[in-house]
Amino acid sequence: ELQPVLLSGGSGTRLWPLSREAYPKQFLPLGSDDTMVQTTWKRVEPLTSLAPIVVANEDHRFLVAEQLRQIKAPTPKILLEPVAKNTAPAIAAAALCALEGGTDPLLLVLPSDHVIANAEAFRNAVESASAAAEAGALVTFGVVPDAPETGFGYIQAGAGHGVVPVQRFVEKPDAQTAAQYLAEGGYYWNSGMFLFKASRYIEELQKFQPAMVEAVKQALSAGTRDGDFIRLDKAAFAASPSDSIDYAVMEKTADAKVLPIDVGWNDVGSWSALYDVADHDANGNVCVGDVISVESRNNYVHAEGLVALVGVEDVVVVETDDAILVAKKDRVQEVKKVVAQLKHDQ
Ligand code: GDD
Ligand code: MG
Repeated sequence: ELQPVLLSGGSGTRLWPLSREAYPKQFLPLGSDDTMVQTTWKRVEPLTSLAPIVVANEDHRFLVAEQLRQIKAPTPKILLEPVAKNTAPAIAAAALCALEGGTDPLLLVLPSDHVIANAEAFRNAVESASAAAEAGALVTFGVVPDAPETGFGYIQAGAGHGVVPVQRFVEKPDAQTAAQYLAEGGYYWNSGMFLFKASRYIEELQKFQPAMVEAVKQALSAGTRDGDFIRLDKAAFAASPSDSIDYAVMEKTADAKVLPIDVGWNDVGSWSALYDVADHDANGNVCVGDVISVESRNNYVHAEGLVALVGVEDVVVVETDDAILVAKKDRVQEVKKVVAQLKHDQ
């Protein structure tokens, strides 16, 4: 049986000022009626009869529980992290929790803040990757790259069709290396979604980060359970090394496989990415809320009050009740500098 694991620990700083530490992007309805975490669950619900395991920051426990309740998801197990230690320990906690029942389910690990335009094609991909994962592979889903982005993992795929061995997995290469991979061809972006048996993940992590497995085991056994919440023990979890699954396991394991997918995947890591996936009006604008636009083209505007544009192009305007962002669309990656500055000033 397939056990979906929803990762909900990111803070989504590049979507400031809509995404905040207290209310990150996975809890926002970005370009849809449902929030991203709700959409993530609905996308995979037809694949399983199991309830989701969600791994989230303690501060977001009510947001997670309430948003899943709203869409009538089966009551989730919500693993609460007292501190963020990145994805490798978060997934380890989910895997150990899944193994507690005495079964060894296939974990489908999903970031809760990605857009997938074609949910059915994605479900088909998961089904076609299941046999390899049951056989012990750690499967990731590869996306054909269209730019030398440095924020992604790059996968060199072996020969063949369907699920193929990973020749090389390089997490976040520098710009020059990324450009070289694109020129060479045969590379995919790691989508950050994974399929593997819970036991296989723990086995591999044990090889490369034994202290992490130990810390997470401790954090679970010394943790407290109330209702749907499983609170990881703070001292034990804080003792875990911090690392992502990509560096800790996927770059190193000999059992990585990749299934190339074409499902309209986008990690909506920035305002321009959100612009790209949204519906545009006749002038190429994406307007959310009350927007008046006069001779303006190719802008992204989010208005909570009223925003008017006159004669501007390629800008992002995000207006909330206590902050306004105005940025050139090709510089939205630098919004994280704003957040860093804000943190510094606090
Ligand atoms: N529970 C929990 N705890 N979740 C976390 C934590 C944590 O400490 N840190 C990150 N997450 C969640 C994020 O919310 C996101 O949904 C997912 O895990 C991935 O984390 P990111 O921080 O967004 O990773 P990334 O974008 O830098 O890189 C990953 O995703 C890329 C694709 O979007 C890697 O897997 C790359 O290889 C990949 O290309
Ligand atoms: Mg990401």
